[in-house]
Amino acid sequence: MKATIAVLPGDGIGPEVVEQAVGILKAVADRFHHQWEFQYAPVGAAAIDLTGNPLPAPTLATAKASDAVLFGAIGDPRFADPSHKVRPEQAILGLRRELSLYANLRPVTTYAAVYDASPLRQELIEGVDIMVVRELTGGIYFGAKTRTATHATDECSYSSPEIERIAHLGARLALSRRGKLTSVDKANVLETSRLWRQVVDEVLARHYPQVKLEHMYVDAAAMHLLRRPADFDVVITENMFGDILTDEASMLPGSLGLCPSAALGDGALGLYEPIHGSAPDIAGRGIANPYGTILSAAMLLRHSLKLETEAAAIESAVNSALNAGVRTADLKPRGTPATSAEAGKAVLNAL
Ligand code: IPM
Ligand code: MG
Repeated sequence: MKATIAVLPGDGIGPEVVEQAVGILKAVADRFHHQWEFQYAPVGAAAIDLTGNPLPAPTLATAKASDAVLFGAIGDPRFADPSHKVRPEQAILGLRRELSLYANLRPVTTYAAVYDASPLRQELIEGVDIMVVRELTGGIYFGAKTRTATHATDECSYSSPEIERIAHLGARLALSRRGKLTSVDKANVLETSRLWRQVVDEVLARHYPQVKLEHMYVDAAAMHLLRRPADFDVVITENMFGDILTDEASMLPGSLGLCPSAALGDGALGLYEPIHGSAPDIAGRGIANPYGTILSAAMLLRHSLKLETEAAAIESAVNSALNAGVRTADLKPRGTPATSAEAGKAVLNAL
């Protein structure tokens, strides 16, 4: 098939990990006889430097006109001072909103070859396979903000339809997996969470009575993710809880660098990015872990292009690279750490 893939490398280690993922996508095109057209565009601090805008109109247009977006990372220490009016992060929030990518799939899988890279004991993380669905265009991230010299507010708002679509997606995913859905909220305190819980109950009772639904408070979920992670199947939660819990959950496989994500809407267009940030401390050295971005490219093939065989081939190749002992510095290598290029090459060879 033919597809146009927008490539937004962004800042810090973004371009380095994206380069490896693009190499894998090219290899998949060769092997499975597809044709990709890659359209590169600047985003984040890189785009601020060029245009003054973290999400320039041509970048947004390129993303909108594509079949899928491969995204690296954004963020730059030059904008660390929160008083900056123009910030790199506005680009990813703007892309999610402008492309209506309201559902964020963040799979958390552990790999036997790198069990020892996790800070948790092996017996806890064996067989962990969680699919977190994070609501991505609502909640406190996108509510009204106010600020005076001494007072600030961030509004958290959710409507029933915003919750319903996440409940449907989570339930459908649960049916295709182990049949269990955990809805995470803070319904003992927050009104948005009380609505969330009510809507999830209604959708599940009406459409998915076969799914085993449980509700969990976010503080308890944070604890159970470490205490008995293998018990989770599909997790649905609001925007900010999902942001926090998935960083925590990345310690189950052992590194943020292993975790991919897909931001999806109603159509086929999606945005695919590793869940890690721009890691300015190691940027430009060619040592960042590219596996999370490569696994994001696999999700791109699966969800936007409906190429399940190709997606699974990449995932299995990453597993082979890990089994072959190819570990970047974040994966606690025993000898010399692999570079980003060596990790990419190992996946390529396995493919
Ligand atoms: C993520 C990131 C973003 C978020 C930041 C960069 C705005 O942490 O994708 O998880 O908070 O959503
Ligand atoms: Mg985050």
